[in-house]
Amino acid sequence: MAEKKTFYVTTPIYYPSDNLHIGHAYTEVAADALARFKRHQGYDVMFLTGSDEHGQKIQRIAEERGITPKDYVDKIVANFTNVWETLHISYDDFIRTTEERHTKAVQEIFQRLYDSGDIYKSEYEGWYCVPCESFWTEHQITQDHICPDCERPVELVKEESYFFRMSRYADRWLKYIEDNPDFIQPTSRRNEMVSFVKQGLEDLCVSRTTFDWGIPVPFDPKHVIYVWIDALANYITALGYPSEDESKFRHYWPADVHLVGKEIVRFHTIIWPMMLMALDLPLPKKVFGHGWLILESGKMSKSKGNVVDPLVLVDKYGVDAVRYFLLREIPFGADGHYSEDALIKRINSDLANDLGNLIYRTLTMMRKYFDGEVPVPGPEVAPDNELKQVAQEAVTNAEAAMERLEISTALDAIWDLVKRANKYIDETAPWTLAKNGDNERLATVMYNLAETGRILAVLLVPYLTSTPGLIWEQLGLDGSPSDAGWDTAKTWGLLTPGAKTHRGAPLFPRIDPDKEEQAVKDQKLEAKPVKEPEKATEENIITIDEFAKVQLKVAEVLVAERIPKSNKLLRLEVAIGEEHRQLVAGIGKSYEPEELIGKKIVVVVNLKPAKLMGVESNGMLLAASFPAAKGEDRAISLLTVDRPIDSGASVR
Ligand code: MSP
Repeated sequence: MAEKKTFYVTTPIYYPSDNLHIGHAYTEVAADALARFKRHQGYDVMFLTGSDEHGQKIQRIAEERGITPKDYVDKIVANFTNVWETLHISYDDFIRTTEERHTKAVQEIFQRLYDSGDIYKSEYEGWYCVPCESFWTEHQITQDHICPDCERPVELVKEESYFFRMSRYADRWLKYIEDNPDFIQPTSRRNEMVSFVKQGLEDLCVSRTTFDWGIPVPFDPKHVIYVWIDALANYITALGYPSEDESKFRHYWPADVHLVGKEIVRFHTIIWPMMLMALDLPLPKKVFGHGWLILESGKMSKSKGNVVDPLVLVDKYGVDAVRYFLLREIPFGADGHYSEDALIKRINSDLANDLGNLIYRTLTMMRKYFDGEVPVPGPEVAPDNELKQVAQEAVTNAEAAMERLEISTALDAIWDLVKRANKYIDETAPWTLAKNGDNERLATVMYNLAETGRILAVLLVPYLTSTPGLIWEQLGLDGSPSDAGWDTAKTWGLLTPGAKTHRGAPLFPRIDPDKEEQAVKDQKLEAKPVKEPEKATEENIITIDEFAKVQLKVAEVLVAERIPKSNKLLRLEVAIGEEHRQLVAGIGKSYEPEELIGKKIVVVVNLKPAKLMGVESNGMLLAASFPAAKGEDRAISLLTVDRPIDSGASVR
């Protein structure tokens, strides 16, 4: 049997700090999506993360707290794994730089570099940034001695040190970058690094003597190894290099991609490749520098007090919603803004409205028309072929985007299918087919919708961790979408007729940002009988100001269902911009509930709430009606908008 292809992805190892924030979660969730995608494609994946526990910064924090650095890191790192598990991060190994497998290997690496003449002893005099654990030359810092990366004060350091002969590798590095233009991604970061190296490289100070929280230099233990040399080595020490058993290293190295934040690209694309060159080891295939997640108040930091805790968000909105937001909102590589409002918008529009409604409507109609059982499809007619084509394109485009590490583009491609399928429901109007008794066509439409659900479940596996399984189970499928594998999304028609579907609760409840305010509304008002409008006469004419008192807004129907024991009343849930409301409307004889979902209607929003058959109505929709002839029902037609416009828009 042919051996599986391997894929090795890493994230940075994190400094122990009191809380991992949403910015850290961003790197980790992106790497996780990549790892899951490759596993789904059948690769043998190694996904590594860990903690970077040595250095002057950690030693100082521990001293401030009056505990040993080891006690400090032990306590904090225990919490890391809890955060990653909560976010369903599927790492295969977690390396701590204080573990013996790492410290021994780093000492051996240092020894080898010393033996080959790549490391020599001298004296360092220059500037050091403790928060970044980074050395700077006089001309790199500002006049008032500020770190160019984190903009905090640097300190003057003068001590005996070992140095790594970086200057030896500059030309070889430049040639490598020229021959491998994809090594540093995105391209803008590569250009920055090339000009940095072209300015001239000084040898790098790789040991310190003024503190002791680090790995001792094996042949000169009053020195500890520079924390970045120690940290970068984790990508190979975790694979057992160098040790008696290097089988894992031979199997997975070189890494396919190191994912890192943009501020540490320099370490990963200059120091790290040069270390590997000196060790005579192959270089990783790619280093990808992603952007930062920024808050309105600037970059997240403890000192600013603006740290967003991923655990709190997961608790409030669920893990899939948080993962989806991080992966979809920001093009991977660019900086992007985080706000809870933006997160709620994504949940409500993409997850609750688009995806959740599609599955909910499909399963509701399957239950109503086929007793939940997937029917045998009949002949294909338009727009079936278009839906199939969009499904094929979603797979191809998502796959291509993932290969380029454009995770948000992959999700865009998948959502093209979600949106096309919702449009397909409106175009084919299954309720009309049912009314007309066109069972063969109804069967085809319902089969196609369920098949789209199956394909979506497979496509969503890398990004969302529980939703794909829920869709799968509700479609009555055996096994799981991850077991099925990515390639099963490429074939249309794998869903077997006869599968017993069942509708569960909506996959994503809508979040109401104004919930608190809504709760205090008066709940006890009863409906008043509506009078027939009078003809316009001089006496009943109104002024523009009087008309302006009536607030009309565009609303999108999210949920529609019949009110039990009434053949006329429907209960609707509508979105009016960010607001979420319940309405009761007497249109049940003219409209099927399924037909209304997704429609943009016009609602009077400042009407006194009323109760109809015990159900509260917070507003009134507008509909045209024509008085009925004897024995007939009134003809009712809803007022909708004829161009795309967001819900919440005012109507004048
Ligand atoms: N310990 C080093 C990495 C050593 S790797 C050999 C380190 N640790 S860190 O904890 O400060 O940062 C870890 C990662 O989190 C970095 O890639 C960093 O860019 C990322 N992020 C920290 N804050 C972030 C945001 N606000 N947004 C996006 N990523 C951010 O650096």
